Amino acid sequence: MATLNIFFFVLLIQCTVFTGSSRQLKKSNVNIDSYGDNTFSVISFGAIGDGKKDDSKGFKRAWDAACDSSTPSPTFLVPQGKTFLLQPLTFNGKHCNSNNITFQIDGRIIAPTKPSTWECNRNCHHWIGFQNFDGLHIQGSGIINGQGGNWWKLSCKDNQKSCQLRKPTGFMIGHSKNVDMKGSTFEESPKMHIAFEDSTSIHATQLTIKAPGNSPNTDGIHIQRSTNVSIHNTTIQTGDDCISIGDGSKYINITNIECGPGHGISIGSLGIMGKTEEVEFVHVRNVSFYGTTNGVRIKTWQGGHGHARNIRFEDITSHASTRPIVIDQYYCPHKQCKNQTTAVEISNIAYENINGTSHKETAVQLSCSESSPCRNITMKNINLRNEKQKGKTSSYCLNAHGLRNGRVHPNVPCLDKHDNF
Ligand SMILES: *[C@@H]1O[C@H](CO)[C@@H](O)[C@H](O)[C@H]1NC(C)=O
Ligand SMILES: *[C@@H]1O[C@H](CO)[C@@H](O)[C@H](O)[C@H]1NC(C)=O
Ligand SMILES: *[C@@H]1O[C@H](CO)[C@@H](O)[C@H](O)[C@H]1NC(C)=O
Ligand SMILES: *[C@@H]1O[C@H](CO)[C@@H](O)[C@H](O)[C@H]1NC(C)=O
Ligand SMILES: *[C@@H]1O[C@H](CO)[C@@H](O)[C@H](O)[C@H]1NC(C)=O
Ligand SMILES: *[C@@H]1O[C@H](CO)[C@@H](O)[C@H](O)[C@H]1NC(C)=O
Ligand SMILES: *[C@@H]1O[C@H](CO)[C@@H](O)[C@H](O)[C@H]1NC(C)=O
Ligand SMILES: *[C@@H]1O[C@H](CO)[C@@H](O)[C@H](O)[C@H]1NC(C)=O
Repeated sequence: MATLNIFFFVLLIQCTVFTGSSRQLKKSNVNIDSYGDNTFSVISFGAIGDGKKDDSKGFKRAWDAACDSSTPSPTFLVPQGKTFLLQPLTFNGKHCNSNNITFQIDGRIIAPTKPSTWECNRNCHHWIGFQNFDGLHIQGSGIINGQGGNWWKLSCKDNQKSCQLRKPTGFMIGHSKNVDMKGSTFEESPKMHIAFEDSTSIHATQLTIKAPGNSPNTDGIHIQRSTNVSIHNTTIQTGDDCISIGDGSKYINITNIECGPGHGISIGSLGIMGKTEEVEFVHVRNVSFYGTTNGVRIKTWQGGHGHARNIRFEDITSHASTRPIVIDQYYCPHKQCKNQTTAVEISNIAYENINGTSHKETAVQLSCSESSPCRNITMKNINLRNEKQKGKTSSYCLNAHGLRNGRVHPNVPCLDKHDNF
């Protein structure tokens, strides 16, 4: 009861400051706001939503109230029809009373336009973050726009000098479990749009991610050190990987995805600077690629340790992707790598029902390392034609071993033919 009293006291002060009306004050005292006593609208806590004034304080106050509230299932509401300007902000679920918290995001949230006005000492890890939640629902028809345009101009890829600025991830969920996300749209992030880090049991569905095809490092969804993550029914158009699956990812289920423009769905890169990195039990099913640079790709650096294994890609359609199937154990975007005597091991990789067109003649590229050849690569029912009417497709194999079954076109002769595996 004591905490409740303090809570209402705080609320009273806030209402005095933000509404200045005793009638509303009374109403607030009873109802908290017009949405009911389990809903904490940022508007009731001082956010304006005109797209110009900084709404961060209103968001923080609404969050403190939702987190401290004794209602079993509080809802943090970002109402529709308004645009909220937010500085970098992290919601921490650690000391909340509830383990069933909903973020209903129906409005638009935007970041500051100029990188120099971001309040994070030029070292931003992320813009909007969620940490230490167990039982979190993020849903609604809202749009979350990171205003990345000015950050992209600072790209390392284009301009080495401005590289010191660490570009923020748009939306980060870290150290959390039992999270689901549904319906939201993410646009124009400075760097990757969504990152799942150090988390378990995250389920995302019906998301839309949108950034220009030439925006640098703007991966759609990045998964790192997380298990039991699923991504379904999601459309991603961006300038880097639609989905990238990094170190420590296990039991990942990706289905019904439309990807492109972008760099495809990638496992890795793994094993940079000799690191030991592991990814396993990844299932990618029913994905369409539209003009992406890669389709399904596994990429590892020379000199790494660990493994990428038990990975299955099936029911994939490529619409003029540059290279629909890629394993690259010589990943080196900066072209300054030496070949080394170790590599992240790649094994038990299955490709099944992969159809459509390839932009390059080499539709299938399996570049495996000499020190650690790829083992048990299986292909079944592959039919990749050249995008150009009279063009043909071919495959490239280096140190790759496994089996092929059914129709495999282009032929991949390094895989032994097997009639029933
Ligand atoms: C969690 O919260 C949501 C939204 O308020 C509600 O629909 C659902 O029933 C709650 N679940 C549990 C287990 O309380
Ligand atoms: C994976 O997540 C689902 C949905 O949250 C849950 O029902 C299931 O128990 C989780 N599985 C594991 C192995 O954690
Ligand atoms: C994904 O979409 C399919 C087809 O519209 C639907 O049947 C399925 O329930 C959806 N799954 C999720 C997790 O949203
Ligand atoms: C992946 O998700 C789909 C759709 O929800 C489900 O049918 C399938 O069983 C899941 N697969 C794995 C390996 O979890
Ligand atoms: C495959 O994904 C598309 C969306 O990309 C969806 O419309 C379709 O229903 C899915 N097919 C199956 C068999 O789930
Ligand atoms: C690819 O073509 C095969 C054979 O025509 C068909 O069985 C399979 O369903 C197709 N897969 C996709 C993803 O279109
Ligand atoms: C590394 O080895 C690959 C395969 O043998 C070769 O194509 C590539 O040129 C080598 N790279 C360097 C930097 O030696
Ligand atoms: C080859 O990989 C498949 C999964 O893609 C697995 O089911 C099978 O057991 C593996 N075979 C061997 C000999 O490891």
